[in-house]
Amino acid sequence: MNILRHLTLLLCLCAGLASAQQQPPARSFTDAARGPTPITESTKPPPLANAINDDVRRTRNYAMQPPTIPHRVDGYQIDKNFNKCLDCHARARTETSQAVPVSITHYMDRDGRVLGQVSTRRYFCMQCHVAQDAARPLVNNTFQDVDTVIQQSLKKSQSADKAPKK
Ligand code: HEC
Ligand code: HEC
Repeated sequence: MNILRHLTLLLCLCAGLASAQQQPPARSFTDAARGPTPITESTKPPPLANAINDDVRRTRNYAMQPPTIPHRVDGYQIDKNFNKCLDCHARARTETSQAVPVSITHYMDRDGRVLGQVSTRRYFCMQCHVAQDAARPLVNNTFQDVDTVIQQSLKKSQSADKAPKK
């Protein structure tokens, strides 16, 4: 019985080795976010850039866009003990901080019920809100906001009206 078990084990091992030999050499791995650094190693982070800190609230491209952060946020603690953002942006803190209070959606759970405190879904602010660097865009942006789209379609329908009818 024991010998039989050993034999099967040996057979399995041999089969494993054979199939390992047949596999083509692993291709070098490249990920757009981490480059060619293997998964098992840490990437070397780029030096911290100089985030824009002009305190000017920016236009949102559409109504549900998370506004970008107009101030520096380096070193702000956000963990289970403390949320530095809420130190200024919580409903009760805005009188002293003069920050914009987080909106009602930040208090909603996934079923749309409004909670007494900021929802855990909105606790890690920088999943959605980001500070901005004064960097040249790598790719040109052709985004048009809804006002532009409406204006363009109005113009189109006006010129269609003017065109002589057959
Ligand atoms: C010291 C107080 C303070 C802290 C801490 C703080 N903010 Fe602010 N934040 C402000 C103030 C004040 C404004 C209004 C514009 C300005 O003065 O920069 C603002 C503006 C913003 C806006 C723009 C809102 C809009 O409608 O355009 C966002 C987004 C924001 N903060 C996110 C954050 C996040 C995320 C954090 C944590 C990483 C954070 N803030 C930490 C004070 C603070
Ligand atoms: C899951 C994405 C998400 C997370 C996480 C999140 N926000 Fe927002 N935030 C939004 C969106 C989307 C809007 C714009 C629409 C709205 O008000 O819901 C917004 C709006 C805001 C505004 C502007 C409110 C207003 O009335 O103009 C502030 C300030 C803000 N968020 C701060 C924060 C802070 C501080 C945190 C962390 C405690 C946070 N947000 C976490 C998505 C998020």
